[in-house]
Amino acid sequence: MSIHAPPAAGTAPVTLPRLRDMAARGEKIAMLTAYDATFAQVLDAAGVDVLLVGDSLGNVIQGQPSTLPVALEHMAYHTACVARGLAQAGGRAFLVADMPFGSYEAGPQLAFESAVTLMRAGAQMVKLEGGGPIVDCVRFLVDRGIPVCAHLGLTPQRVHALGGFRVQGRDDAAAAVLKADAAALAAAGAALLVLELVPAPLAREITQAHPGLATIGIGAGAGTSGQVLVLQDMLGLTHRPSGKVPRFVRDFTRVPASAADAPGLTVRQAVQAYVAAVKDGSFPDDAIHAF
Ligand code: KIV
Repeated sequence: MSIHAPPAAGTAPVTLPRLRDMAARGEKIAMLTAYDATFAQVLDAAGVDVLLVGDSLGNVIQGQPSTLPVALEHMAYHTACVARGLAQAGGRAFLVADMPFGSYEAGPQLAFESAVTLMRAGAQMVKLEGGGPIVDCVRFLVDRGIPVCAHLGLTPQRVHALGGFRVQGRDDAAAAVLKADAAALAAAGAALLVLELVPAPLAREITQAHPGLATIGIGAGAGTSGQVLVLQDMLGLTHRPSGKVPRFVRDFTRVPASAADAPGLTVRQAVQAYVAAVKDGSFPDDAIHAF
């Protein structure tokens, strides 16, 4: 039994052509992570356009220090949970699943087999991290009818190679590599591109350079086609060992954000506030992204 009413009649499902159209018209795309059926229904009912079964589940569900221990079976299990929740709710949102560390880097054939597992679990698109070395995988999947979301900037599966969770593309040389990677991924057929922790002007430039590619920012300023946050972060539930939450995160259970002692919102209200803020451009605030 569904715990939430299905979306109102006439609320058409979000499809890939519709996401492209939203990006072309400048309607911001609201994306959040989801890992289970109940939250999938809450997020869908609150108007989130895209649900991402992120491998951040390694951190927020499994309690791991990074996303590296997440296996393909874990991703398939949580993707199926979210897909069932969406189906029960008469789901409107588009469902993207992360390809975990080790499930694609060895080449297109491995990437295809892993992507098939996630699509069979209910994903409508898969997400891969990285640029140049995975462009062939992206083209191989797209040519075989599997929609792809790419992910550049801070790519958490490469946290050790990058030397930590830090802003990417700060100097001219690094920015040039990011721009070249975005162009190669767009040419290979990626339809969405997550840009994580990159300077706002660079994210805006990449977005403007590729009208056919919908960019989704996280810590990348307001100039992208849409935004994504980790659900637990935007509900103010994340407790990191360092005690620090990234400065691009906003706790949407507190509105206005500055009124720390104001009564909290329900989860559904907080998610609705997130969707509204993404759509009207009041989240994120470019000023805090002046890296
Ligand atoms: O795994 C994840 O949740 C992600 C988002 C933070 C973009 O990749």
